[in-house]
Amino acid sequence: MIFDKKLIPKNVQEYNELYNYSITKPESFWSEVAESFIWKKKWSKVLKYDFNKPKFEWFCNGKLNITENCLDRHVKNNPEKTAIIFEPNKPDDQTVHISYKELHAKVCSFANVLKNNNVKKGDRVCIYLPMVPELAVAVLACARIGAVHSVVFAGFSSTALAARINDASCKMVLTSDGSFRGNKTIDLKSIVDEALNDCDCVDSVIVLNIINSGITLKNNEKWWHEELNNVNDDCRAEIMDSEDPLFILYTSGSTGKPKGMVHSCGGYMVYSSYTFKNVFDYEDDDIYWCTADIGWITGHSYIVYGPLLNGATTLMFEGVPSYPDFGRFWQICEKHKVNQFYTAPTAIRALAKHPVQLVNKYDLSSLKVLGTVGEPINEEAWDWYNENVGKAKCPIVDTWWQTETGGIMITSLANVTDGKPTFATKPMMGIQPVLFDENAKELDDNNKNGILGIKYPWPSIARTIYGDHKRYKNVYFSAYPGYYFPGDGAFRDDEGNYRITGRVDDVVIVSGHNLGTAPIEDAINMHDNVVESALVGFPHDVKGNALYAFVILKDDNTSNDIVKEINDLIAKTIGPIAKPDKIQVVSGLPKTRSGKIMRRILRKIASGEKEKFGDISTLLNPEVVKSILDGKI
Ligand code: WTA
Repeated sequence: MIFDKKLIPKNVQEYNELYNYSITKPESFWSEVAESFIWKKKWSKVLKYDFNKPKFEWFCNGKLNITENCLDRHVKNNPEKTAIIFEPNKPDDQTVHISYKELHAKVCSFANVLKNNNVKKGDRVCIYLPMVPELAVAVLACARIGAVHSVVFAGFSSTALAARINDASCKMVLTSDGSFRGNKTIDLKSIVDEALNDCDCVDSVIVLNIINSGITLKNNEKWWHEELNNVNDDCRAEIMDSEDPLFILYTSGSTGKPKGMVHSCGGYMVYSSYTFKNVFDYEDDDIYWCTADIGWITGHSYIVYGPLLNGATTLMFEGVPSYPDFGRFWQICEKHKVNQFYTAPTAIRALAKHPVQLVNKYDLSSLKVLGTVGEPINEEAWDWYNENVGKAKCPIVDTWWQTETGGIMITSLANVTDGKPTFATKPMMGIQPVLFDENAKELDDNNKNGILGIKYPWPSIARTIYGDHKRYKNVYFSAYPGYYFPGDGAFRDDEGNYRITGRVDDVVIVSGHNLGTAPIEDAINMHDNVVESALVGFPHDVKGNALYAFVILKDDNTSNDIVKEINDLIAKTIGPIAKPDKIQVVSGLPKTRSGKIMRRILRKIASGEKEKFGDISTLLNPEVVKSILDGKI
């Protein structure tokens, strides 16, 4: 274990004591945690911050390289230990075990490939790859030489990819000729080709051969395996300042443009690894599996960095939960004797729809801890997970956090603090959540609903939005000055447990994916025949939420295929995940006298409400509500 025993609580009392210490003396607490890592030079001050600017600096003037902490230190102590288990898409294909020594060599070799291709410290590299070990290698190779990685989930469309490449002015793109997903093969390279037609910043592309598609590369493109022939596996770790950027990761917001959240080296290292150890109660020989994609923050923090910083064995799965059947997750748990399993409520709900025999058929006795992330978990899903997967003996950690927070913020700690179905429960050490009432006043008493805020900085808070610090301030620090505003509502019970109730802004969480309604509306509005549109979320029994689009057309009679055309536009601009479940053509949208769409009413209509809309007399066009209800699909 990399942490001193006294930093890892074993029971509720120790958690309470440590939590107390962490919030009364945050600087000494975090300095003790940070001592657990290898620093090239120690920090001169633990924390400098100013909520007004806003500016947060942790472990000031400390020098480090995160990959030395992920790799070199474990190669020294335990070189043969498996770092990554790769489980391929097809169950019959070969599983790959990569030891810390091998991973170190792969990362250093690929870091040298980056250098040979003129990538330098501070340059941005876009990574658009499926869930294969080379994705983790690419991420770490960037970190090794101080290049800033920007991983884009390989389900995003060419337009979304181009927007992200351009926003960060990426110099290089790392991708593959294609990917395997269930019984499908996906042509990733054509998506990249299309995106790059609109990107002048990219000098070179390195292509990993996964599907043997036999494509021919262009002049500025190179094969990954050929590039590896030109390098050795010796690569010095670049010396990074604590506050140097480690990566950019895009998330949706309330305007069309995605937000490139910037995370820095020192604070992110300390927080992602400390939370990993505590939340999952990871012990030295455990096999840990998080089913997320590395294209999301969960994969960054809890497939790659958190586990590797702890010297853990982390499983990467290339495929999907439904292939070859809906028992695949459990087959993998049995095969690799998985001890900690971390997934999303949407996956649990989808799997719970299938015969429980698909779970019971496998030996899940290795499981010790279960986790969920990404959206609120409903009681039925929690019960199903607990009974059928955990056999009522595994603690379930319901972890609330965000791309912006870098690591888990509110959760129970496995085998330490108690879980409570549908509650994320208690704050992590160092985290001070508060609830605000409608007058932006801090709520002192319990048993209340409110808007969530965080009172004090923590090491892995995102430092800015790439290229737009003003937006960073507006979105996260203006609603409640002196606090971080995550955009979620919450309820706090008598014992101080938090239950996250959902977004309070125009972001809808569909199947655990954050989707801003604004960019999707922008895509719909690109259709020649669309005058205006409004998109809202409504409850869905598998996805958590689904999308409902209301659109006004110029000419109702011009096209019979409007639904398909709108769906195609959305898939092309954002990606298939953003397609609405329902698209209704309407004659008008409910608007206030100042012209603002009353989404509250649309949300109610979408979720099946027929009568209770509150006072609609302030609407400019109250009659439109009835007409929308009449045409509801
Ligand atoms: C939601 C994912 C309820 C929340 C790590 C948050 C949750 C958004 C939970 C961030 C949870 C995440 N219970 N809601 N345990 N975890 N959320 O950036 O609305 O993809 O603001 O990060 O997901 O999504 P993101």
